[in-house]
Amino acid sequence: MIMGHNDAIFIAGGHGVAGSAIRRRLLSKGYSNVLSPTHKELDLSSQDEVESFFKEYKPKYVLYTAAKMGSITYRNSHPAELLLENLLMQTNVIRCAHRFDVEKLLFMSSDFIYPEIQDRAMTEDDFLSGLPSKRDFPYSLAKITGVKLCDYYREEYGNQFFTVVPCAFFGTDSSFDLERANVVASMIHRMHDAKTTNAAEFTLWGTGKPVKEFLFSDDVASACVLLMEQESVEGLYNIGSGSGGTSIRELADIIKNVVDYKGQIVYDLSKPDGIMRRVTNSSRLRALGWKPEYDLETAVRITYEHFQKQVG
Ligand SMILES: NC(=O)c1ccc[n+]([C@@H]2O[C@H](COP(=O)([O-])OP(=O)(O)OC[C@H]3O[C@@H](n4cnc5c(N)ncnc54)[C@H](OP(=O)(O)O)[C@@H]3O)[C@@H](O)[C@H]2O)c1
Repeated sequence: MIMGHNDAIFIAGGHGVAGSAIRRRLLSKGYSNVLSPTHKELDLSSQDEVESFFKEYKPKYVLYTAAKMGSITYRNSHPAELLLENLLMQTNVIRCAHRFDVEKLLFMSSDFIYPEIQDRAMTEDDFLSGLPSKRDFPYSLAKITGVKLCDYYREEYGNQFFTVVPCAFFGTDSSFDLERANVVASMIHRMHDAKTTNAAEFTLWGTGKPVKEFLFSDDVASACVLLMEQESVEGLYNIGSGSGGTSIRELADIIKNVVDYKGQIVYDLSKPDGIMRRVTNSSRLRALGWKPEYDLETAVRITYEHFQKQVG
């Protein structure tokens, strides 16, 4: 079934970084019936609220982009709440999508579902070939369950429920709150502060050598919409930059250039590096004609402009 321009499309988590970019993408492509209630309007962890929503609005297509994450301190001290909240939200939405005959559901998971493979790019076949990292395990476990629930609904009932596995992404809706921000948003904020206070040095933990992938949220959105527009989708689709990854050192240099910070970046070698390489292979998605539009520097530039507007 092909998504029609007047079909009701529900974005769960539609005001987050990915959800907002997807909403903009859908609207710009002429999809006129996009439903994206805020957290306040619809609590996804409430089964009653989610059921009432499906009953009332009868979405035909669903994109699940919600998540409970919080700060590192919160994640380390609330594993039960983190696992439960993510399980409840995704299960309520996926279950209702089945019960209310949704045509297609996209479940946004994370590359945290994969085991720690550092010597090559991870493919979709690496899913469940080993345990994921112990770091953020409750979050990974919830995401793994979501992937399997979509697979099982497809196996048992033929539902077109599938999963995307994005790498780290950021964009104009990123939170710059240092407690919650991801690596790019946090580095932009901190380097901007270093510039405005004329700090001579900007310190990063570790060697700066770990390599990760980063994407602009609008590129994640174009991948998701492309997949929703396919006649048939199943299983997992990695969404990665395809650049072979970017080291933290390269990222810091890009941000330094964009922010125009004149001080020196120093590396605190007494601090750990973490996983040295985390890169995915997106050939499955690329075979459908997708590729990112934004290079990392352009994406950082656009995001920094938004940050500057926020701080005035
Ligand atoms: N960002 C990344 O680098 C990255 C990488 C890989 C995978 N992912 C996954 O991709 C998806 C989108 O990520 P994102 O960065 O766009 O996340 P995000 O900006 O944190 O957005 C998540 C959204 O979920 C909402 N939400 C949380 N609990 C809710 C609840 N009980 N009821 C209703 N809404 C609720 C949040 O609303 P409030 O803020 O109002 O609570 C927020 O709008 C997530 O599933 C995430 O796990 C993200």
